[in-house]
Order: sequence, then C-alpha cells, then structure tokens
Amino acid sequence: MSKLVVTGGSRLRGRVRAGGRKNSAVAILPAALLADGLSIIENVPVIQDVSIYCDILRSLGVGVDLVPGNGAEGPRAIVDPSRLAWQALPQELITRLRASYYLLGVLLAKYGRAEVPFPGGCDIGSRPIDQHIKGFTALGARVKVEHGVVKAEATRLVGAPVYLDVVSVGATINIMLAATLATGTTVIENAAKEPHVVDLANYLNAAGAKVKGAGTDIIRITGVDRLSGVTHSLIPDEIEAATYMIAAVATGGDVVVENVIPKHLESVSAKLVETGATVVENGDSINVIGNGRPRPVTVKTLAYPGFPTDAQQQMTALLSVASGTSIITETVFEGRFKHVDELKRMGADVTVEGRTATVQGVDHLTGAAVKATDLRAGAALIIAGLTAEGETEITDIEHIERGYERAVEKLSSIGAGLRRKD
Ligand code: EPZ
Repeated sequence: MSKLVVTGGSRLRGRVRAGGRKNSAVAILPAALLADGLSIIENVPVIQDVSIYCDILRSLGVGVDLVPGNGAEGPRAIVDPSRLAWQALPQELITRLRASYYLLGVLLAKYGRAEVPFPGGCDIGSRPIDQHIKGFTALGARVKVEHGVVKAEATRLVGAPVYLDVVSVGATINIMLAATLATGTTVIENAAKEPHVVDLANYLNAAGAKVKGAGTDIIRITGVDRLSGVTHSLIPDEIEAATYMIAAVATGGDVVVENVIPKHLESVSAKLVETGATVVENGDSINVIGNGRPRPVTVKTLAYPGFPTDAQQQMTALLSVASGTSIITETVFEGRFKHVDELKRMGADVTVEGRTATVQGVDHLTGAAVKATDLRAGAALIIAGLTAEGETEITDIEHIERGYERAVEKLSSIGAGLRRKD
C-alpha cells in the first residue's frame, strides 16, 4: 500500500499549473458517445478517474486514444464512437467512480435503454440518484433498480419540464445528456450552475445540440436528431487550483497558480483574503501570498457560485492553525467531515455537530500517521502535513491519485517536502 510522506515547515514558492477539470472530463468523455463522429477532448487531466473512464468506454467498443497535448497542455483524448455497441456495463469498473452514472443519460439517449450499476464515489454522504431518475422518468423512461443495477428504458424520450428538488450537479448533467437527442424541449429548473455544467453545454452545442441557459438555474435543451464529433478544450480545474492556493496560505508561501479562470475561484479567493492572505488575479493566473498566521473565518459551503464543498476539507486544515475560532458549515454533503478525526491525530482542535465544525485554531500541528478517507480529505491532510512539525505519513493515497494530477511532482516543484513511499 503506497503512502505519502509529508515533511512540514517549508513555505511554498513558485509557479504551478492547474490541469483540466476532472469533473468536466468525466462528463464530456461519456457525452462524446452521443456524437456520430470522432471527438478530440483537449487538456484532459492525467488522473485515474480519466483512465478508468477510458477503459469503461473501450469496454463498450469505443475507440479511445490519449495522445500528448501541445506544450504545457494536458493530453488529448481522441474518442471514436463509431463502433459503440450497447451492453450492460462491468460492475468492477463502474463502481470505481461516481461519474459512471452519466452513461445512464448517454445510453438512454442513444439506444433508449441503459443498465448501469449503482455508482460508487467518495464516501462523503449517502449520494442518492433520485433526482436523476426523476428527470429520466419525466422524459418518458421507465427506471428501476434491480440487484444494484439501475435499469432504464424508453420507447422514445420526449422533452419535458423537470424541477430539481435539490441543486444537483450530477442530475443536471445526466438530464442534459438524456435530453440532447430527445423529441421536443426539456427545461431543467433549479439546475446546478457549476463551471463544468457550462463546459459540457459548450461541448454539446459545438457538436450541434441546442442547450440554452447553462450557468443559470434554468437550462433549456431542445432535442436534435444527431450530434457531430468536435474538438473541445476542457476548462481548468478550479478545485485543484483552490487546493494549491489554500496550501500557499497555510505555509505562508507565495505561489502563482497558472491556467485558471479567476471568476471560477471568486468565493475561494474572497475567503482567503478574509484569512489575511493577498490574492492577485492576472488574467489566466492567480498569485496567492500568505501573510503570517491565518485569521479565523466562517465558511459555509453552497452550490456554485458559493464556496465549493470540494474545497471545504482543505479549508478545515488551514483553519486548524488559525489565530482563533472558525465555524465551517457543510450544507451540501452530510458526511464530509471524516477528515476531522485524522486532523485531530495531528493536534487539531475541531468539534463537529451535524453539519457544522467548530475549529479552535492551535499554534501548530504535529506530524502523525493518518488516512485519506476520500479525495479532498487526502488533499486536506497534505496541507495539514505541510504546516505540521515533523513528518506526516498518509495512507490510502489512491483517493488522492484518483483526482489530483501528478500531486507529488507539482507540489514538490513549489517547495513542498513530499514523497511517495511504496
Ligand atoms: C458532483 O457530485 C461532483 N462529482 C462532486 O465532486 C461535488 O462535490 C458535487 O458535484 C457538488 O459540487 C462529480 O462531478 C463526479 P450533487 P454529485 O448531485 O453530482 C444530493 C470531488 O471531490 N442529491 O451535486 O454526486 C446529494 O446527496 C467530488 O471532485 C440528491 O439528493 O453531487 C448532495 O447532498 C466529490 N439526489 C447534493 O444533492 C440526487 O439525485 C449535491 O449532490 C443527486 C444529488
């Protein structure tokens, strides 16, 4: 079992580049199956979730080649769906990542039927898919769950209005995918507005779809007969960027994160300024400078454009060494405080009541043996280790490698004391 060994005490300095957006890649790779022709998806992040998704598509007969990108850009995925053949999907692959459920919307749109095992994903809450099923049913599909497999079928998908009872990124994307080739217009109300929802809509529209309003809470999709393959470059990963920004503040460093869209990071930048950091936006890069011990703040996670739940755990690590008491409220997932027990092993003083964590800042953390319970918890523990006295050994790092592109290499390049231990 590989481990990460983090040696605390160094200030992060230098320039680091954010890769392509993980959650965009795992939506647009399956979306490419809707097209009749070949798509080229640029700036794909080099992460396990992408390689798993490529294997899933290949298991359906789809041609998927990853070729080097131009210059600093990430690889390009060449997706050729011409030999796509419907089949029930392999449980062992599907359950390894949550985004496999997008194949429900894609196969339903393409073939009028889909059988996809119930999705896996980070253990941060119950992760239901009732809103996805609500959307498919509204479009005329019959959906049932049997032996852990979601089975959907429809003679014909007909556009319809769908009101999401909860703002769900996954449901918004899945319904958009199913509606793209349906007959008539689908209106998704209370839709998610995350940047990668917009990124997917841009890909679909370039391929000939008619998606309007992505990025607002009302998205209209007018079904078309077919889509063509296109070339599309993924947006940068704002959560990867946020992670490096928070690490810079936690270590009192001075880091420039390149390949970002500052607007996607507004809530994170504003919150880091509240802790006393300096944040300077320069077009497609952002400079973050820590100014001494972070000040305590209040954090409430919300759907975009609110403070992202995917950066909450990293902020908890930062605020563990703040000069006072911080309050963190996790409104999106009910189980996203599993990293707190691991931070406590490092001397953090955090009390969790339901969805709220009260963080009493301590002077410093101390290195310990800890476990990455999920992707962003792993990132939080790296940040905690970078600020701690001594060495921190993190196990279960496959969670980190699922979603962070070359984390050891990138963090080491800006001065982090970090190494893998096999
Ligand atoms: C996506 O998960 C992301 N994953 C998550 O990122 C991210 O935390 C989340 O969106 C919120 O931004 C991918 O894109 C692969 P949701 P998803 O549906 O789609 C409830 C990371 O770290 N809900 O927006 O599963 C749900 O329980 C990962 O990169 C229902 O009740 O999130 C949650 O409380 C972690 N019924 C809330 O909605 C449903 O049918 C938001 O979930 C669907 C969701």
